[in-house]
Amino acid sequence: MSSLLQKGTPVSQHSAAVLRASRAPLVVSSVPDAEPGAGEVLVRVRAIAVNPVDWVIQGTGSVTYRWLRYPAVLGSDVAGEVLAVGAGVTRFRVGDRVFGLATGTDRGRDPMREGAFQETTVLLERLTAATPSGVSDAEAAVLPLGASTAACALFQPAHLGLRMPGDAVVPGDAVEPEGERGVVVVWGGSTSVGMNAVQLARAAGYDVVSTASPRNAALVRSLGADVVVDHGDARAVEHLVEGIGGRRVVGAVALGTTSAAACIEVLRRTGGSVLAMASTPVSLDGLAGRRRLFPAMLPVFTRVGLTMARLTLRARRAGIRSAFVWGSSLRDDEVGRRLWSEVLETGLSDGTLRPVPEALVVGEGLGSVQTAIDRQRAGVSAQKVVVTL
Ligand SMILES: NC(=O)c1ccc[n+]([C@@H]2O[C@H](COP(=O)([O-])OP(=O)(O)OC[C@H]3O[C@@H](n4cnc5c(N)ncnc54)[C@H](OP(=O)(O)O)[C@@H]3O)[C@@H](O)[C@H]2O)c1
Repeated sequence: MSSLLQKGTPVSQHSAAVLRASRAPLVVSSVPDAEPGAGEVLVRVRAIAVNPVDWVIQGTGSVTYRWLRYPAVLGSDVAGEVLAVGAGVTRFRVGDRVFGLATGTDRGRDPMREGAFQETTVLLERLTAATPSGVSDAEAAVLPLGASTAACALFQPAHLGLRMPGDAVVPGDAVEPEGERGVVVVWGGSTSVGMNAVQLARAAGYDVVSTASPRNAALVRSLGADVVVDHGDARAVEHLVEGIGGRRVVGAVALGTTSAAACIEVLRRTGGSVLAMASTPVSLDGLAGRRRLFPAMLPVFTRVGLTMARLTLRARRAGIRSAFVWGSSLRDDEVGRRLWSEVLETGLSDGTLRPVPEALVVGEGLGSVQTAIDRQRAGVSAQKVVVTL
């Protein structure tokens, strides 16, 4: 960080990996420091992780994130230490090690103040947790968007509306009508979101059945799934239904382009009635980064729209309530407050939650962020691409 003189006023600056325009490569440059406002913490970033949404925004933001203004700093996953706290912050002090969900690319937020891919960033206190002493910054950085999206799917009333970890089990209540635990279906248990969904559902006291490629089956079991079937197997739906074995299904979380159709079939055959979808049914990979999005985007977005409409109709006909999950929608709700102020800190400290997936550190310094985004886009298996700063 440096101090520059601009029009006679000292302006502190720091480095950021900046997206100057839609579909441009990230460029490391100096940007003004931010002051934390009320309920915010300023963090010296030590590790960031990359999500599929980062290359989606970089490559298609002009049509998918139309509200985003440029220049912008992307990124959701941050770990580091607190440099300053804003008014009203009670949970953190300067010097605390923390990790948190950066929401700068959300509608109405400021991507230059609140994006992850920079030396210092502003996090909301309510989306920040203390990093336990046994967890490194690279490990903590894998969690924010994965755990938040999983929590939205599992716990928000608009989705599965399940009991959260730490809630008392009241046999006979609406969640446990027959005094049995109920089983959650997580299709895509070896994705970043899926691993967090498996361990959060298990920590909340539910049984979990899931899918993964055979090489990741043991890992997903170790997070708490009692049945893991191969999502590449043409009979995966049948195997999951067999694995559920008559248990009461409390809902399904669908991760991966083909997952919603498969989950609807599992729910239909097992009497489950709630589906949380986190993935678009058509990959945007073919669009991201094209020099011209128009007209290539037209058939892709038409397919996305038609497939979503068809899936929603199919679900409704089967008596299944379905909705699309937005991972940062917990910013202002009780699920977000509890996940970030109780569940993650407690679970990581007592070992009921693990920092998953494993961090794959691909470089050090902001100059490595573009490489990291390209690496995540090329495909990962049960790993989270991380850059340390
Ligand atoms: N809506 C939101 O707010 C939100 C937020 C975050 C992510 N997402 C979406 O959620 C999905 C997962 O994101 P992520 O970051 O968790 O992904 P990720 O970790 O990059 O996903 C990679 C994983 O996908 C798995 N996979 C491969 N084939 C699959 C299949 N047929 N079905 C299910 N999984 C399969 C692979 O597991 P194996 O190697 O074991 O096959 C691999 O580990 C993506 O579609 C992402 O865009 C949405």
